[in-house]
Amino acid sequence: MKKHGLTKVTIQHLRKMKADGNKIAMLTAYDATFARLVDQAGIDIILVGDSAGMVVQGGGNTLPVTMEEMIYHVRSVVRGAERAQVVGDMPFMSYQVSVEDGLRNAGRLVKEGGAEAVKLEGGAYYAELASRLVQIGIPVMGHIGLTPQSLHQMGGFKVQGRGEAAAKKIVDDAVALEQAGCYSIVLEGIPRELAREITSKVSCPTIGIGAGVDCDGQVLVVYDLLGMNEEFRPKFVKRYENLAVRIRTAIEQYVTEVRNAQFPDEDHSFSKDAPTPANATPYGSLAQGQAAGGGGPERDPDATGAACIPIPLRPIKK
Ligand code: KIV
Repeated sequence: MKKHGLTKVTIQHLRKMKADGNKIAMLTAYDATFARLVDQAGIDIILVGDSAGMVVQGGGNTLPVTMEEMIYHVRSVVRGAERAQVVGDMPFMSYQVSVEDGLRNAGRLVKEGGAEAVKLEGGAYYAELASRLVQIGIPVMGHIGLTPQSLHQMGGFKVQGRGEAAAKKIVDDAVALEQAGCYSIVLEGIPRELAREITSKVSCPTIGIGAGVDCDGQVLVVYDLLGMNEEFRPKFVKRYENLAVRIRTAIEQYVTEVRNAQFPDEDHSFSKDAPTPANATPYGSLAQGQAAGGGGPERDPDATGAACIPIPLRPIKK
């Protein structure tokens, strides 16, 4: 399967990665700009997580996120992603009331958002829904262990599966989801020994977050990996950047330059005397448009000269 000439990551591809012992790299994204960067960096799966409720909307948990919001985010990410598989998260109460609700809402993420798979939190209880979704052609990613939509039941965001009975329940949930046809399972916030046991027991890939290195793949929230929230430092997050500092520094510099009338300077201003060169790109990126076959700057056919601002054609994605 190809999109813009690139071979898409499919569930078959992911199963083969597990069989071949190749680790799967997954990250969240919520908009097209981040999706493009994440995709270009070689991520295999982009999860449009309901963590949007926290990192995008600023809420304390994921519970208020709606179907409309998830469809909006999924649609945006699909526009930015070319190679990675895009998975849409089923928000709280979009599938808990009935199998029919779950089928209808998963269908919306695929049909209206363009998701290539859906993720749902919960174990054996949701096996019937998972199985029905798979039968109608919607790939399902399970999510067990620390399931943030059950935070009140769990008494907070706490590591799960410590103790024999709790561990056995999570293993049983994993097996039930695998048997229902889930093509992968997220293991969140469980001891690494338990994640290792589950990973060796199920044939579908496991994707860990706070579950140790023995899972078949790993997922993080992209803003956490980039260090965009200085207050949030859980043990399982490794920061690969400190963007909070870098973004603030850049913006502080902009504020200073605006206040000192240093920006915009000559290089960043138009002049009535000097027409914009044909290869200039005052709005958008020419390179991007050309790379995607968008061609050069688009000109107003009625324009007569210097007053016309060339606007590069961008590839139009549905
Ligand atoms: O919503 C989310 O981002 C998630 C991942 C952290 C697994 O569920």
